[in-house]
Amino acid sequence: MGFQWDDKYSTGNDEIDKQHKQIFAYLDELEDHIEKGASQEWVERFMSGVGLYTRSHFCFEEMCMRRSKCAAAAQNKVQHTKLLAAFSAADKRLKQEGISDALLQQLRTFLTSWLVNHIMKIDVKLKDCN
Ligand SMILES: [Fe+2]
Repeated sequence: MGFQWDDKYSTGNDEIDKQHKQIFAYLDELEDHIEKGASQEWVERFMSGVGLYTRSHFCFEEMCMRRSKCAAAAQNKVQHTKLLAAFSAADKRLKQEGISDALLQQLRTFLTSWLVNHIMKIDVKLKDCN
């Protein structure tokens, strides 16, 4: 059972919503591979893909918030930095310790509750600025 896109995730910016949907698709992909059993190689490839995508998405979103003088812009940037730090820590753990159930759960928690909570609490504030 994957994540269902819902209007409560909408930022009012079609491009950002499209990018968020891609992040949701990454979550689905991870869930699938956790069920089937993910290999070290797959997780490494997955993380580097998610890492690149997330970085460019954050840049784009920060630019949109700056442009529209969104009140949440500074808070959004701070949270992005924290999210990337948590992501880098998981990535480092993967490289040092290798794949483990604990690491996969950490990754899942990062991508699900944190990223999705972030979208719902901060990113949706863009709606008031468009
Ligand atoms: Fe954001």
